[in-house]
Order: sequence, then structure tokens, then C-alpha cells
Amino acid sequence: MSESRNRQIVLAQLPGSGPLRLEHFVARDGARPVPGPRELLVRPIVLSIDSASRAWMNGPTYRPQLVPGDVMAGYALAEVVDAGDAAFAADDLVLADTGWQEWATVPATDATPVRRVAALTHHVSVLGVSGLTAHLGLHDVGRVRAGDTVVVSAAAGATGNVAGQLARIAGARVVGITGSPEKNAMLERDLGFDATVCHRDPDVLGALRAACPDGVDLYFDNVGGPLLDVVLRCTSRNARVVCCGAVSAYDDASAWSGLRQVPGRVVTHRLRIEGFIVLDLVDRWADATANLVRHVESGALRVLEDVLVGLDRAPEALIGMLAGENVGKRLVRVADDPG
Ligand SMILES: NC(=O)c1ccc[n+]([C@@H]2O[C@H](COP(=O)([O-])OP(=O)(O)OC[C@H]3O[C@@H](n4cnc5c(N)ncnc54)[C@H](OP(=O)(O)O)[C@@H]3O)[C@@H](O)[C@H]2O)c1
Repeated sequence: MSESRNRQIVLAQLPGSGPLRLEHFVARDGARPVPGPRELLVRPIVLSIDSASRAWMNGPTYRPQLVPGDVMAGYALAEVVDAGDAAFAADDLVLADTGWQEWATVPATDATPVRRVAALTHHVSVLGVSGLTAHLGLHDVGRVRAGDTVVVSAAAGATGNVAGQLARIAGARVVGITGSPEKNAMLERDLGFDATVCHRDPDVLGALRAACPDGVDLYFDNVGGPLLDVVLRCTSRNARVVCCGAVSAYDDASAWSGLRQVPGRVVTHRLRIEGFIVLDLVDRWADATANLVRHVESGALRVLEDVLVGLDRAPEALIGMLAGENVGKRLVRVADDPG
């Protein structure tokens, strides 16, 4: 990394409703930015690769739509290099929306200080947005209870693997849905899932019914689309559906088929379907983080990380993740850990 150059990955064109490809990005070398008043100059260390960032290209979400020419947006664990007059010190670690680049300026008010309690990468995986989303979605929104049958989709992914493990820790019976037999074998062998289903199974409904003979009490939905309709058909009375995301629709607009079980089964089975955005639950982050740290330190919660090295690999990291390549949290290491 150069001290004056700033390598950046820029969105060259929008992918539209088709799959994201490498040519939608371009790398460019700019100048190192200079922080303004109340801004920090930071050096990203590890980028968080998030499937939601594909949705940011499709239109406004909980943030404005990305447009061609933008540095690709995304969170990172970053080291403060120049804190200016802000209440940070050089060498502090922060989580911030730095984008995919070697250097960034961020408003000091948007940087979350990180107190080192684990391997630094854990602050972007199990202790970052993915782990917090899993914890708050499962407990605060889903109100998981011991004895529940909990189904998690994208269960080997960053959010899903933590949600499934936390459900197991809470005393639930956990069923994971993924796209491959290899991922399913890993979930049962290494993470203590009770059963698994492959969403590519031509009889996914039959497979899910067999895996959940007493019905689904809580569905942690990372996927949306036709799979949501399948799971709704297996729900028990008073089941809760936590709508965390809809990754099936981000890279493939044709995946949304409409829900045939809404409102019919929602009414007859007294279902509660609730969406949430983890950024709205900031006042709950400290409690959730403390629990996650405790579970990681006790060994009850295994940390799955999938790390690519080099800023230029960020586009392939996101494209591969949307295709289901990743096991656990996908990260891109941009710089070595600070000493
Ligand atoms: N609500 C919030 O505040 C919040 C915060 C963070 C993330 N999220 C959501 O959490 C979900 C997971 O995000 P993540 O970043 O942790 O990604 P991830 O689960 O690590 O990776 C995405 C996974 O989705 C699966 N997938 C892709 N296309 C699919 C399809 N058509 N059908 C079924 N599965 C498909 C793939 O695994 P398979 O091999 O299983 O197909 C892939 O590995 C996303 O919906 C995201 O928007 C929500």
C-alpha cells in the first residue's frame, strides 16, 4: 500500500436485474483523501462483504441507491490514522462505512469505536453487523424459546450460521436450509444443527416437512422468494417469521414469484411476520455484543470466516457470495493488522 495513493474499487455500471459481474466494477488509483472538520482519516483493514450491498444497486433501500462512479460502499474494520479534532486517537480501531478503498475519510459521528476483545476479524463477522443481526433478529424480533423448531435459510452464511447456533444455544431444535450437501453436512457435523434441507431439492417442501414433523415455530428468513412460500406451508400455529433479508431476489429479479400463503395461512395459523433493520436497534447492540463475546469465549459459538486477500478481489468476493460460494462470513483483507 502506498502512503499517498488511494486504490479504489468503483461501480462502473449498474447490473440491472441480472447477475452482478466483474465488468460492473473498475479499479482506479486516486489521491489519499484529506479529512475535513470532524472527519477521521482511516485505513481499512478488513472489508465486510455483505449480500445486501447488491440490493443497494437496485434502488433506494435503507440507504440511497448506488450509482456508477461511486466508490463501492461497504463497512470495514479500520484504523484511525488522523483523528483531527474528533474524540478519537490515532491507532484507534473503528467500524465505519469506508467503502472499498485503501484510505477513507468518514464523519467521526458515523464511526463506531471497537474495543479489542477477540481476533480482529471477529469484529467484522460474529461481533459485527452479521452477528448482531443474527442475535437481535432471533431474540428481540423472533423471541426464540427453548423447544421451538427454528428454521434458518442461507444457514451456512454469515448471518444464518450465527442465528442457527444461537437458536441451538437457546435450546431450540434447529433446521438449516442451504444450497449444497457439503454445507449441510458441515452444519450438522460442526455446528450442531439437528437437520438440514437443500433448497435445490426438487421436493424441498417434502424435505422440509420431514425435517420438521411438528411444524416450524420460528423461521429466520434470509432468502425470501419462493422458499419463503415453502416454509410458510410448514408453519405451526402462532409461528413467527423474522424477515431478515431476501438474498434470492437481489441478483435475480425473476426469483420473486409472489406469496401464495399470504394472507391465507397467515390468518388460519395466526402467524406473525416481522421485518427489521439492525441499524434501528443500536440501543440493543451492547447487550447483544456481550452475549456474543460470552458464547465465542466459552466455545459454544464457533466462528466461521471466509477471507480473501487483496482489495482488488472484493468484486469477485461479492459475486461469489451471491452465488453461494462462501461458508461463513465473507471478508476481504485489505491491510495487515496494526501492530
Ligand atoms: N435486516 C438486517 O438488518 C440485515 C443485516 C445484515 C444482513 N441482512 C440479510 O441477511 C441475509 C444474509 O446476508 P449475509 O450478508 O449474511 O450473506 P450470506 O448468508 O453470508 O451469503 C449469502 C448466501 O445466500 C445464499 N443464497 C444466494 N442466493 C440464494 C437463493 N436464490 N436461494 C437461497 N439461498 C441463496 C447463498 O448460500 P446457499 O449456498 O445456501 O445458496 C449465499 O452463501 C441477506 O438477506 C441480507 O440482506 C439483513
